[in-house]
Amino acid sequence: MQIISTVAELRVRLHNETNIAFVPTMGNLHEGHLDLVRIAREHGKCTKGTQSANQQAGCGVVCVVVSIFVNPLQFGPSEDFSTYPRTLEQDCTLLEQCGVDVVFVPSVNEMYPAQQTVFVEPPLIANDLCGASRPGHFRGVATVVLKLLNIVQPQVALFGKKDYQQLHIIRQMVAQLNLPVEIVGGETVRAPDGLALSSRNQYLSATERTEAAFLYQILTGMRQDLLRGETDFSKLEHGAAQALAARGWKVEYVAVRSQASLARPEEHEGNLVILAAVRLGQTRLIDNLEVCLKG
Ligand code: PAJ
Repeated sequence: MQIISTVAELRVRLHNETNIAFVPTMGNLHEGHLDLVRIAREHGKCTKGTQSANQQAGCGVVCVVVSIFVNPLQFGPSEDFSTYPRTLEQDCTLLEQCGVDVVFVPSVNEMYPAQQTVFVEPPLIANDLCGASRPGHFRGVATVVLKLLNIVQPQVALFGKKDYQQLHIIRQMVAQLNLPVEIVGGETVRAPDGLALSSRNQYLSATERTEAAFLYQILTGMRQDLLRGETDFSKLEHGAAQALAARGWKVEYVAVRSQASLARPEEHEGNLVILAAVRLGQTRLIDNLEVCLKG
């Protein structure tokens, strides 16, 4: 595994690779990230054959690239950019064990050598849900992801459904800007009690960590209600928000949305997703669950 920190060196290293699968991260890796790395390896075209058979078929063996970069552009002024956990050595050990080929670890100066004045303007949904409390967040995400895709030039890039709105916005960016990359979404990896794995979970105290599993229980309960035929989404959203608030959580939103657009569902829309963002003490948690209603 090679660890590369400059764009120039990375371009040289990847010059002859024809089958790159890319997983962008901010590091402090956990099973959620590593699952994406495993999918990346499997998803690369022609991974099953021998190297020579693949070469004859015109496609090389997959080269898995992971980036680790805590992107200042996507953090608000009062957010946790400076305290975001940075654990590079441990991350590299995990990535090596997963058979990653290249880790790209640029400095802030390498990614933004001059002040960034060109940005990706994300679609309006970026101002809703998480965007409502994090103005500019998805503009920062979309901009850094476009830069990383241009630097790495992968055939496939992997993103987790854990950050459902982020995945949606990246899919829109790739489609509408005609980027030559396939975007693959990975399922959310959870702790045994249901809490979605996140680098920010370590901010939770022991009591908060136990309490945090309640978010998944609430989402699961809402999914049950939807599957049983509940059609009053506002009632469900308010009920869930009240139950969370009653336990002392600060609720940013609990929302039932269309999977395809993240807008409020049309009547009889079957593919729904329940999304939530809450604060437990100082820690912001997000989670979501897809729900498919039969027509
Ligand atoms: P980060 O939070 O490090 O997440 C990197 C990738 O891992 C994202 O695609 C995220 O959705 C995925 N991920 C995180 N937790 C997961 C879980 N429990 N199960 C499955 N996937 C999970 O998201 C970012 O970094 C940044 O915004 C980034 C896209 C790298 C741009 O800076």
